[in-house]
Amino acid sequence: MRQIAPSGTPIRLADLAAVARGVFSRRGNMERFREAVCSSFGVRHCFFVSSGRAAMTLILRSLGALSDRRKTEVIVPSYTCYSVPASIRKAGLAVRVCDVDPVTFGYDLRRLESIDFSNVLCIVTSNLYGMPDDIPSVERIAAGNGVHLLDDAAQCMGGQVDGRYAGSFGEAGLLSLDKGKNITTIEGGIILTRFDETADALRIECGRLPDSGPARSALNFLKMILYAAFLNPRLYWIPNRLPFLGLGSTVYSEEYPVEKYDAFLAGLGVRLLDRLREINQARIGNARLLRTWLEGIPGTALPFPAENASPVYLRFPVRILDEGRRDRCIAELNRCGISASASYPGAINDIPEVRTGLSEEEARLPGGRTLARQILTLPTHPFVRREDLVTMVDVLRRECA
Ligand SMILES: Cc1ncc(COP(=O)(O)O)c(C=O)c1O
Repeated sequence: MRQIAPSGTPIRLADLAAVARGVFSRRGNMERFREAVCSSFGVRHCFFVSSGRAAMTLILRSLGALSDRRKTEVIVPSYTCYSVPASIRKAGLAVRVCDVDPVTFGYDLRRLESIDFSNVLCIVTSNLYGMPDDIPSVERIAAGNGVHLLDDAAQCMGGQVDGRYAGSFGEAGLLSLDKGKNITTIEGGIILTRFDETADALRIECGRLPDSGPARSALNFLKMILYAAFLNPRLYWIPNRLPFLGLGSTVYSEEYPVEKYDAFLAGLGVRLLDRLREINQARIGNARLLRTWLEGIPGTALPFPAENASPVYLRFPVRILDEGRRDRCIAELNRCGISASASYPGAINDIPEVRTGLSEEEARLPGGRTLARQILTLPTHPFVRREDLVTMVDVLRRECA
């Protein structure tokens, strides 16, 4: 039985052996990982923490410490990961919402420009599915209004705009090393910044974090072995049938640890960062074929990233304009062994914890809702074979006929 996971990074036996050997060289591995990240993404400083969510909370706390204390609002796109508003609220700040452009999935830049920035600390990008936003334009709007930019590249490690890496724009950016990301060390988040002053504030915040401890490393190693085995399409059906794992489900939660990165995982990080280009290249190739073969199916729309962007397609998102049909496509793809996903279940302005703090106009914004009803994401990772792509295209053509 073959079942393709929605997203993932192949981990080899040699990687697991290297991680096990690295148990006595955590410091050295951590240092190598740090240097490799800074040189790969062209930044002066990077910090490793327990997750992308923790990274966002810490960046916001640091930017808050460096800024006017009256600036307590953070602007997010109406369609992004639920972890984003959760991290903002965990940092003690208020979420503001700006609508998205349904073609690029990034901000509707005209709307962004017209926002009242008087209490705004920061604008957050989304770079969803490995497609970089028009980050230079968002950066210009942020600078023009005297607010910070936090470049969230949790889903876009290796993606570029104008030859610069997503995550390296603005005052600070972040990458995620969680299980469904461009590369994974099972958990982890990376903060990037080019600025010494921001790095100083981040060093203070990160210095206060508790260590994750040896029991966490043992558990992470076990998870790594299971992940490496069960991501394989011949075995993925097993975890896929275990409802308690909650694979693919999105829940809003502000309850997550903000801790140091488990240095034991750095050995895997160094090896996978070395293969990031190759892994992303497989995704880009699969996305290119999907785009060519899916073009022109009635009732669907393909995404068009910003012109100056080089996407890395963590997943390939397709819009199926009718929600009922979208849901039937997902069910049929899953039946055929392809774990397609509806991504986030709703707009950010419809999350109850967020909605209560929004203006009437923000609460009504339609763009995120439309995307939440229409998006279907297809897997692009290196385990996806040509015949899987053919199955995806056949199902969508059949269901949308
Ligand atoms: C856009 C975005 N930002 C932030 C995060 C948080 O990253 P993590 O899962 O490592 O906490 C995610 C996670 O999926 C994400 O998709």
